[in-house]
Amino acid sequence: MRNDQAANGKSAAGPGIRLANFQAQDLPAVHAFAADPVVCQYSTWGPNQLADTQEFLADALVEQPHRALQAVMLGDVLIGSASVWVTDRKAKAGEIGYTLNRGYWGNGYATETAGLLLRLGFEVLGLERISATCDARNAASIRVLEKTGFKLKGRRVEDPESSTGRAETLLFNIGRA
Ligand SMILES: CC(C)(COP(=O)(O)OP(=O)(O)OC[C@H]1O[C@@H](n2cnc3c(N)ncnc32)[C@H](O)[C@@H]1OP(=O)(O)O)[C@@H](O)C(=O)NCCC(=O)NCCS
Repeated sequence: MRNDQAANGKSAAGPGIRLANFQAQDLPAVHAFAADPVVCQYSTWGPNQLADTQEFLADALVEQPHRALQAVMLGDVLIGSASVWVTDRKAKAGEIGYTLNRGYWGNGYATETAGLLLRLGFEVLGLERISATCDARNAASIRVLEKTGFKLKGRRVEDPESSTGRAETLLFNIGRA
């Protein structure tokens, strides 16, 4: 049984999914989505080689006070990763990110994940503002952010010749209610 009730207080549960601590045995489940080129098509990382995922998981297993980097769990199945981290301690500002295995898209799980990340960011990390960035082509993530209450605050032009092919990044944020 996964140690959801760990003392770090960074677990959170919704009606469908929950955010729990990663475990060393999660490598195959994490690599299943992190190595998927469709999952990574709009990301600034991946598709991962196994060594990349091993490095990610080794980092995720280390508890750090400035972040919650959690596994997205559907029952006992790991379906993604989710993170909220402090970007500016003085300003109490942070950022979120999330990735789900393609087999579980379209069920509202990312929207639920983003809502839980906001709860952890505001209530556990003590943030006042949380931002999110995404590729302007990433319609599903834009919709997730809108549904979670984020507002579009700006756009950043990117070099389309970069490895990701990203031409524009959208910048969203939300304040503590
Ligand atoms: C983005 C991602 C997390 C969405 O996960 P998900 O569980 O399918 O999201 P949800 O089901 O909560 O919501 C998706 C919404 O986007 C909509 N959507 C999906 N594809 C879309 C498209 N091509 N155009 C417009 N809307 C789209 C869905 O209809 C849904 O909105 P609705 O509830 O109003 O119908 C998932 O696709 C993913 O992991 N992508 C790869 C990683 C990534 O891009 N992470 C975000 C980086 S900013």
